[in-house]
Amino acid sequence: MYSEKVMDHFQNPRNVGEIENASGVGTVGNAKCGDIMRMYLDIDENHVIREARFKTFGCGAAVATSSMATELVTGLTVEEALKVTNKAVMEALDGLPPVKVHCSLLAEEAIHAALWDYAEKNHLKIEGLERPKTDISEHEEEEEW
Ligand code: FES
Repeated sequence: MYSEKVMDHFQNPRNVGEIENASGVGTVGNAKCGDIMRMYLDIDENHVIREARFKTFGCGAAVATSSMATELVTGLTVEEALKVTNKAVMEALDGLPPVKVHCSLLAEEAIHAALWDYAEKNHLKIEGLERPKTDISEHEEEEEW
C-alpha cells in the first residue's frame, strides 16, 4: 500500500532532530488524529533555508512526509519553500494512500508555521504567508518531547 519511497523515508527518516537557535520553529497538530509535528528551519541572511529538521509524534506517513519535506525545502528561499505544498511532497514520495493524505498536510503546515515564526522574529512580510491556524507551540512551550 505504500510506495518504496514512503517506506524508505519512514524507515530512514532524513533530518530528524532539532536545530539549536533555529531561525524559525513551527509546531502543528493534526485535528483528525492528534498527531504533532515540529519543524526547525535555519535560514541565512539571503533568506535561503540552510537546514531543516523535524520531530514528529505521529504516524508513518507523517514521518515520511516530514522527512521528504525537509529535503525539498533545503536550499530554497523562503518564498520558494512556501510553494512546497503537501501535493508536491506526496508526488516526491510517489503518492500516499487516500486515507493518509491528511497526514501530508502536517508537513506543509509545519513549514508554514516555521516560516511564520521566522518572519515574525525578523519583522518580515513574506508574500502569501498567512498566520498558521494550527500552530500550537504557544500552548506547549514548556513541554519536553
Ligand atoms: Fe495522524 Fe497520519 S494518522 S498524521
